[in-house]
Amino acid sequence: MKGRDIIIQGDNLKALEALLSEGRGESVDFIYIDPPYFTGSGYGAYSDVWKGGMEEYLSELGSRIALMRDMLAPTGTIAVHLDWHAVHYVKVEMDRIFGYRNFVNELVWCYRSGGASKKSFAKKHDNILVYSKGKSWYFKPQKEKSYNRGGKPYRFKGVEEFEDEGGWYTMVNHRDVLNLDMVGRSSGERTGYPTQKPEKLMELLLASFAPPGGMTADFYAGSGSFPFCAARSGRGFIACDSEKEAADITRSRIDSLSIEYDSRTIY
Ligand SMILES: C[S@@+](CC[C@H](N)C(=O)[O-])C[C@H]1O[C@@H](n2cnc3c(N)ncnc32)[C@H](O)[C@@H]1O
Repeated sequence: MKGRDIIIQGDNLKALEALLSEGRGESVDFIYIDPPYFTGSGYGAYSDVWKGGMEEYLSELGSRIALMRDMLAPTGTIAVHLDWHAVHYVKVEMDRIFGYRNFVNELVWCYRSGGASKKSFAKKHDNILVYSKGKSWYFKPQKEKSYNRGGKPYRFKGVEEFEDEGGWYTMVNHRDVLNLDMVGRSSGERTGYPTQKPEKLMELLLASFAPPGGMTADFYAGSGSFPFCAARSGRGFIACDSEKEAADITRSRIDSLSIEYDSRTIY
């Protein structure tokens, strides 16, 4: 929707300052961010190298997350996607900005991918820290399959059971460990942008934390997986990325949905 939905190409610090000065504070129901992870690597499209080390990384991320907090509605939540490189440091920073008591979930996204160290367990999960702005927030529990031990039916009174090729199962509230595939090389949703996140993961987060028709934002949008899934499910979105390649891919994904939005560039 023009006027509500926005794609911004530019540094998210300037974008956040501009949005807040336009009076868009407290207007977003759910923010998802997938910032650089402090890996010390370059990804072609963007860099994750920090000359000033962890201190510089935390100060840049923390100052932006503090402004994101101002963008959130009083019942809003934010999900910060990271991995082992910096998640424990960012947890402390998030506690400082949102308050320890407003920590809602640590979601662990497990995936399968090639490559494993000979010196440690294979590192095959990311961490998603979720915080609420206030004491109450929007959350809709999602269901998943829970297979019975031995794959046999339990036949407990009043419990509905189902069967598929994996055996007998019940439907339970989704646990905080998410087993979902990465975007595969031959996957139809692949854009070619590095570190692209899968639509299934975005959809699960949106269904859980973003009210139907509500407003969302992603200030490290990359290929735009999150705003694309938000728009496709009828929610509003603000998407921002500093790189032209990322903004171009996001625009073309949203264009494929025939949705009108404002396109801005901040220099
Ligand atoms: C891990 S990627 C995001 C991938 C994305 N979730 C997806 O599914 O494609 C991180 C993104 O943050 C962007 N970025 C880094 N620093 C930024 C900043 N200060 N402002 C805006 N975007 C930034 C990078 O250009 C990169 O596209």
